[in-house]
Amino acid sequence: MSGPLILGIETSCDETGVAVVAGHEVLASVLATQIEAHARFGGVVPEVAARAHVEAIRPMVHLALRQAGVHSDQLDAVAATQGPGLIGALMVGFSFGKALAWSLGAPFVGIDHMEGHLFAPRLEHEDFSPPAVVLLVSGGHSQIVHMRGWGSYEVMGATIDDAAGEAFDKLARFMGLGFPGGPAIDRASEGGDPSIVDFPRALRDRPYDFSFSGLKTSVVTYLEKAKEQKSVPPLADVAAAIQEAIVDVLVDKTFQAVEATGVSRVAGGGGVLANRRLRQRLQEEADRRGVALHLPSPGLCTDNGAMIAAAGEFRLERGDITAWGADVSSSLRLDAP
Ligand code: KG4
Ligand code: ZN
Repeated sequence: MSGPLILGIETSCDETGVAVVAGHEVLASVLATQIEAHARFGGVVPEVAARAHVEAIRPMVHLALRQAGVHSDQLDAVAATQGPGLIGALMVGFSFGKALAWSLGAPFVGIDHMEGHLFAPRLEHEDFSPPAVVLLVSGGHSQIVHMRGWGSYEVMGATIDDAAGEAFDKLARFMGLGFPGGPAIDRASEGGDPSIVDFPRALRDRPYDFSFSGLKTSVVTYLEKAKEQKSVPPLADVAAAIQEAIVDVLVDKTFQAVEATGVSRVAGGGGVLANRRLRQRLQEEADRRGVALHLPSPGLCTDNGAMIAAAGEFRLERGDITAWGADVSSSLRLDAP
């Protein structure tokens, strides 16, 4: 075991993630997912999320410590997500982490959720280090980040409307595929022919920004017209065409950022990076350009406690200890001064 022993807590959205990390080694990482609780609403309901975190947080912390074979008084620090995210959900993990750290006499470190995603690749790729361009795409965010160094980030572009995951979720809901929509479209697209229809690729003129609301309108219009004409194509083809439109834009803009910054490493994070087609296309493009690609395995792309512990270790080393009076914030920005 190398490096300090950190407990990481993530409760910004709909997963109660808790992990124990030592150095870059994940000793335990457990997750209580709320997918079922939100599925009947077709999306994450903030109050339902906060209540589910309240129920799960204590058992998850105990489980992570037990699986890691660690007693709480051995912990060197406790890290928890401070923001951005759903306020009620954030408050559960942040307050629990603070109280635990206080009771142990250990330092507490509040973590920017997006910085957590930036640290995920390091847990599995020893050779991953900045400078790099990182594509962060989840249900709440779509950003291209120029990671100049650990702790030094420039958000080069972001979505101007829906996040990429949100686009998957809304389109899947419209098509009756269930929640969360990303994995549903990923599965439904298997064997599909994406060339049956060319859905729009928006904001070609703004190199690093995204917009997905036009895609949604276009898919809805296309399917309604197809129904009217009684010529609805196979589900696999429609799913593949939607996926290809989203993936195209994400891959194009990521590599435009690589060109502009001149970096030789690309990484990714956020739930959408679990998408098999996106992973494949990023790999093909990275190989073609001779650029190194560091994608976390799907379980570390989606929200988890290990990435929060990893960022926590970095912040602890830097002496960025969070004051006991600090609060959560729904609007933290990676490149805030
Ligand atoms: O990072 P994450 O777990 O939570 C947020 O911070 O939002 O991301 C969840 C998002 C959801 O929108 C979900 O539909 C999407 O990631 N997602 C996927 C896949 N798996 C999860 N999108 C596309 N393909 C997937 N395989
Ligand atoms: Zn996330």
